[in-house]
Amino acid sequence: MAEKIIIFDTTLRDGEQSPGASLNVYEKVEIARQLERMKVDVIEAGFPVSSPAQFEAVQRIADQSTVTIAGLCRAVEKDILVASDALKNAKKKRIHTFSSTSDIHILGKFGDNRYGVSLDEKRQTVLKMSVDAVKYAKTFTQDVEYSAEDAGRTDIGYLCDVIEAVIAAGATTVNIPDTTGYCMPLEFGAKIAELKRRVKNIDQAVISVHCHNDLGLAVANSLSAISNGARQVECTINGIGERAGNASMEEIVMALKVRKDLWAFYTDIISEEISNSSKMVSGFTGMIIQPNKAIVGDNAFAHESGIHQDGMLKNRDTYEIMKPEDVGITHNRIVLGRHSGRHGLVARMKALGYELSPAELDEIYEKFLVIADRKKEVYDEDLRVLMGEEVQKQYEEQYYQLDYLQVTLGTSIIPTATVRVKAKDKIIQESSVGDGPVDAAYKAVERALKIHVNIENYQVRSVTGGRDAVGEVIIRIRDAGKAFTGKGNSTDIVEASVRAFLNALNHKKQFEKDRQEQTENIWQDNPVRFV
Ligand code: KIV
Ligand code: ZN
Repeated sequence: MAEKIIIFDTTLRDGEQSPGASLNVYEKVEIARQLERMKVDVIEAGFPVSSPAQFEAVQRIADQSTVTIAGLCRAVEKDILVASDALKNAKKKRIHTFSSTSDIHILGKFGDNRYGVSLDEKRQTVLKMSVDAVKYAKTFTQDVEYSAEDAGRTDIGYLCDVIEAVIAAGATTVNIPDTTGYCMPLEFGAKIAELKRRVKNIDQAVISVHCHNDLGLAVANSLSAISNGARQVECTINGIGERAGNASMEEIVMALKVRKDLWAFYTDIISEEISNSSKMVSGFTGMIIQPNKAIVGDNAFAHESGIHQDGMLKNRDTYEIMKPEDVGITHNRIVLGRHSGRHGLVARMKALGYELSPAELDEIYEKFLVIADRKKEVYDEDLRVLMGEEVQKQYEEQYYQLDYLQVTLGTSIIPTATVRVKAKDKIIQESSVGDGPVDAAYKAVERALKIHVNIENYQVRSVTGGRDAVGEVIIRIRDAGKAFTGKGNSTDIVEASVRAFLNALNHKKQFEKDRQEQTENIWQDNPVRFV
């Protein structure tokens, strides 16, 4: 009998911790809907105590979802209380509490003598905090997950003690993260096998794994863990996450599906929704998918060489282990045009994973008509861009807006730009020359706002093919160590560049506002309540 692997999606929590990948509340709600549509089992919607925006996102997702919604919390009373509040309307809720268990983490984070003087005393304190946290979380829900952060580098004897104690305290899922992506597949699988062997009450909880990709092994480690007893995997769409990211959901799901001859495991994921989910997450986060990325990259199903093409024409199985349709990539492109009515637009949007309220439909339909007039044919990619703009506009405060842009360029003149930026109720105009039109426009914006911005990354690509394609610019800026991403679209790429720049500045402003409102700095407050 095939056994089910529980898919715990953490795109909205660990995934959102990718540098510059911040999502607004509405984007998170939209992604959560799509995750539900593809039938993930658990959605980790955020870390509620960390900011008012995180709290709101978890709350809204909990209010509207039917799958299990998890909220992350340290092994601290306040975190658990806040998470349980954010989750209170969830039909199925999970409190996910964690503490560090490796010596490196314990000595680094719990250096203060209040946690004990020797390493052994500190370990005992962490164990007690973990048990108390699980017991407290149980007062809000039966479904409690405990994570031993940096389990990959934790002494196995101590890890067994902690896991046994939290299960005895009521944890129903015990998560073994390879937080730093340090483990090798055989080694990680062996750890899971050893936990199964040594922890007396292990049968009373589901073993979960959460692998990071620092050595490119997150998926391999997750699969190795499954073959040694793990029955839940934590993963993200497109593998986004801290540093090199998390295990990619689409790779795990398709590995289990394609090689079902090898493993008697299955997931409930509707694999045909993978492509929509991947595009939605990439569009909202501004994290472009590398073309050769397994399953969802643009080249994942492209056959270039003559020998391969010839083989494919004769029999697709020669070079294809799965069909593009299996992950939702279809070749019969549906194109809308000026004469497509509202029904056509709604149906197409739905197929792409977007649900429109009547007010949104009115607005999107107007914009759709403008594009259809300009481009004649409107592709799925254009619709995704429209939807992305809509969520930005509706749910993000627009501190800075582009009011006017004029650029002069040519082979024998110095590129010059004039911009007018609406900053709240003021309109500021400035001009500048630059190395090229984009540089000139960016310098003019900097002059207007009296700022200097460190641009870390700038990318431009066309959303669809053809000369009239919409150009998309994605820019990453950095300020005081924090990255902010901005996106801008237009058939004019200089305009798209300025829009992306202002969008990144709006994200920075929003972050500063959130930080001001933040009730506490989660890493600086005193987490000793359970000591
Ligand atoms: O990587 C990690 O250890 C985590 C835990 C909080 C589960 O993200
Ligand atoms: Zn993680």
